[in-house]
Amino acid sequence: MDSKELLWSEIVSRISRCSKCDLHKYRTNPVPGEGSLYSKMLLIGEAPGKNEDEEGRPFVGAAGKLLTELLEVRGIKRSEVFITNVVKCRPPNNREPYDEEIRACSEYTVSIIKLVSPKILVTLGNHAGKFIFELGGVRWINVSRMRGRSYKMDIVGIKDVLVIPTYHPATALYNPNIRSVLESDFDMIKEYYFMEYGVGSIKRKTLLDFLEGGRH
Ligand code: URA
Ligand code: SF4
Repeated sequence: MDSKELLWSEIVSRISRCSKCDLHKYRTNPVPGEGSLYSKMLLIGEAPGKNEDEEGRPFVGAAGKLLTELLEVRGIKRSEVFITNVVKCRPPNNREPYDEEIRACSEYTVSIIKLVSPKILVTLGNHAGKFIFELGGVRWINVSRMRGRSYKMDIVGIKDVLVIPTYHPATALYNPNIRSVLESDFDMIKEYYFMEYGVGSIKRKTLLDFLEGGRH
């Protein structure tokens, strides 16, 4: 086990013993997150649902299936990014997490951000967006006003993190308009992701292209 894996196992064990908010009373399993600790991209969702609570893994239900598809059709393997949520235990009846629960859980969220130390941070939905923008000191309005562009900010001591806010995949499940916006946001996410890994899919024109173009 290297030092990142060791730190991760410590975070997981702290979460599994945590009773800092009432959500611990309802959980079957805590859902700390999963993926590659070495990824340049971290995605943050809202809260575990029924399936996640049963499996102890994030985004394994219907919204998770959509998230996995949004990534994988663009050539990004789910296992090569890191995925977590602003709260690590399932709220009863799938209600939204309260601010105080997100705040109580922020100790772990911050530890995870520091550990992965991502170049790109994708926030899924209003709760994750609001939380991360507050950390970065950038005013948050709401997801529909903030999405569609990226924001550079310093977060928990990590410089120049590219934050990309978008809708939560659950909201796209039964709404084709949101689904198509989410698809286009993931097109942008893909561009930045491959740019970080040095395989930009936007073909840069060389001088030769211009010279040849000039001859036509
Ligand atoms: N929705 C979330 O926000 N997180 C999950 O893990 C699953 C569904
Ligand atoms: Fe602890 Fe977070 Fe679970 Fe609340 S949601 S009990 S703060 S791990």
